[in-house]
Amino acid sequence: ARHIALIPAAGVGARMAANSPKQYLHIAGKPMLRHALDAFLASPLIAHTYVVVSPDDGWIDGVIPEHGVTVLRCGGATRMESILNGLHALQDVLQGVDQILVHDAARPGLTPALIAKLIAEVGQHPAGGLLGLPVVDTVKRAGQGNVSAATVPRDGLWLAQTPQMFSYALLRRALSEARDPAAITDDASAIEALGLSPKLVEGHPRNLKVTLPRDIQTAEMYLAHPDF
Ligand code: C5P
Repeated sequence: ARHIALIPAAGVGARMAANSPKQYLHIAGKPMLRHALDAFLASPLIAHTYVVVSPDDGWIDGVIPEHGVTVLRCGGATRMESILNGLHALQDVLQGVDQILVHDAARPGLTPALIAKLIAEVGQHPAGGLLGLPVVDTVKRAGQGNVSAATVPRDGLWLAQTPQMFSYALLRRALSEARDPAAITDDASAIEALGLSPKLVEGHPRNLKVTLPRDIQTAEMYLAHPDF
């Protein structure tokens, strides 16, 4: 089976409060989205990379490299819809067994080594898998007014990252059948809703999601140290 990257990049980045959507903000000298694209392009394991942008996106042309990336202008109202639209658009190109690595444009710290680790450790697992990090902090459940009402045992808790990898057929079925789209904040949760358990593969803090303005500096620190 081939390994294909699919990057949903049709969000508006509301929490970033910037002029352009956050995937186009410059970070360590290039647009955030380009860092993710370059990680997939540098991986010998990835057969092709697709990016989903919104139909009226005015920035993407200046960001994609000359070869190796195809732009799909079919972004939807939610991340899930953008991915599903992309999968529909590719139905004549991809096969059910092709493995799709879905990666957020907002994670510029991805490396070819993390891509290789995910592919190697998930292998032929029928439910696919994802990068994540075991929770190291003590976890609190807040009560009314930000008081610490309870401690949630952190044993067995992980923070989900991307890429998340599933076969084309499974991912498309899971997202199509999702009953509560608002509860689907990543692709693995749609797979879990089918009663399947994707494999957790330990990722790296450098693969953080850039959400708030302060995250840019953290990401730039990692990008300045590719081996860190
Ligand atoms: O906003 P958030 O960081 O959760 O977005 C995660 C990813 O989903 C980003 O790459 C964003 O561009 C993408 N997205 C999308 N279509 C939407 C909303 C978000 O492709 N309607």
